[in-house]
Amino acid sequence: MAKVSTSFFCKNCGASSAKWVGKCSSCGEWNTYVEEVIQKEKTDYKKTWKKESHSLSVLKPVLLKEVEQGSEERYPVKDIELSRVLGGGIVPGSVILIGGEPGIGKSTLMLQIALQFTDKKVLYISGEESDTQIKMRAERLPFRNDQCYLFTEVSTQKIGKALQELQPDIVVVDSIQTLQSELIDSTPGSISQIKETAGDLIRFAKETGTPVFLIGHITKDGTLAGPKLLEHMVDTVLQFEGDRHHVYRILRTTKNRFGSTSEIGIYEMQGSGLREVSNPSEILISQRDEALSGVAISATIEGMRPLLIETQALVSTAVYGTPQRNSNGYDTKRLNMLLAILEKKCGLRMGMQDVFVNIAGGLRVEDPGIDLGVVAAIVSSYHNVSVDSKIAFIGEVGLSGEIRAVSRIEQRISEAEKLGFTSIYLSKFNKIPKGKSSINIVEVSKLEDFLNYLFG
Ligand code: TYD
Ligand code: MG
Repeated sequence: MAKVSTSFFCKNCGASSAKWVGKCSSCGEWNTYVEEVIQKEKTDYKKTWKKESHSLSVLKPVLLKEVEQGSEERYPVKDIELSRVLGGGIVPGSVILIGGEPGIGKSTLMLQIALQFTDKKVLYISGEESDTQIKMRAERLPFRNDQCYLFTEVSTQKIGKALQELQPDIVVVDSIQTLQSELIDSTPGSISQIKETAGDLIRFAKETGTPVFLIGHITKDGTLAGPKLLEHMVDTVLQFEGDRHHVYRILRTTKNRFGSTSEIGIYEMQGSGLREVSNPSEILISQRDEALSGVAISATIEGMRPLLIETQALVSTAVYGTPQRNSNGYDTKRLNMLLAILEKKCGLRMGMQDVFVNIAGGLRVEDPGIDLGVVAAIVSSYHNVSVDSKIAFIGEVGLSGEIRAVSRIEQRISEAEKLGFTSIYLSKFNKIPKGKSSINIVEVSKLEDFLNYLFG
């Protein structure tokens, strides 16, 4: 029996070391080394599909100007949301990693994408579910693809063989953490296994020009499980996120070698799979008959898309000594800052109040342009006075209570106009061409004036 050998790997960058070290010499992170069993069979290369199948062609340095551009032909994707997130279709030979918490719908999304490629041979490799389980899921989806193959296997050597025989046009792997290379002894999901198996698949993708989707798990702290290295190795990293108790899911790019990273795709989880949401504003604004206090609408931008979202706030007298500040979908530090500004500049006594802020629909917003809407919701709840539901807010709030200009203001205004808002509050410093839109534009420059104007 071969001797068991172990090595230490950095969880952050994947560097290895013969002995444990406190600080990684490669990436400088502390306490990231873990021990793993390796043991490579150095001689038996017959077992590896990467070495036997593709003899490495001899490459020479070439002049950049002589490289043929090649019309960058992307595979069109029927799913408009995914297509937008990828930057307009799939680039041949690209490797796309999709991360997300368990149960968020990664397998559902990928299966339905696979089924939508009706003119392509798709291989769906699953190490997590059986054929019948996948079939059951496929039955719920409204798509059919007669050329979709299933393969429930975890060994990359066997997968490699199947890939050579089948020669699919698109490959989906669910999930990278379940794959196992026979050349390495450590358990599936360990750093060395992920490195090796992902490496094999990436090599396959680059050599054959086949796009490969890898599904990845998320650890408790919200990062993709496995070495950060995995994110460096692939071309595109997508995050599938959302609140499991809400029906909306957001597909976000965090890395994209072939497109912008500011795009998002929105889906709604239904009984029959994920539905693309093409007009998100309509669903993010809750339907209500009467005006409620503590609710305000902001016009934000996600990627290239304007989006009207609803902020809800609840301000109530603190029953315990330390008031609570809690926010869902909005940065808590920013919330604390806004409360301090309200206290200092506008004379509102926030120090004794519990404040809860929630962005409707389980959305997480990073655009500082929603500050003004958050303030409006908080103050509305504080005074228990409702804000007219036909008013939208745009503006970043600065530390001295000034209302700052935001980007893409025209797009935001026209979206609000389209959705039937009658008034919009925005920063005076956003230069708006006068008389262009029918919506009533109210320009404000200081938080104090804004609150006086709105709440009298
Ligand atoms: P799944 O794709 O298995 O999540 P993941 O692969 O990210 O772990 O989907 C999980 C949830 O989606 C599951 O709780 C049930 C729900 N679901 C629907 O609501 N409708 C559907 O049509 C399908 C297939 C799943
Ligand atoms: Mg799954």
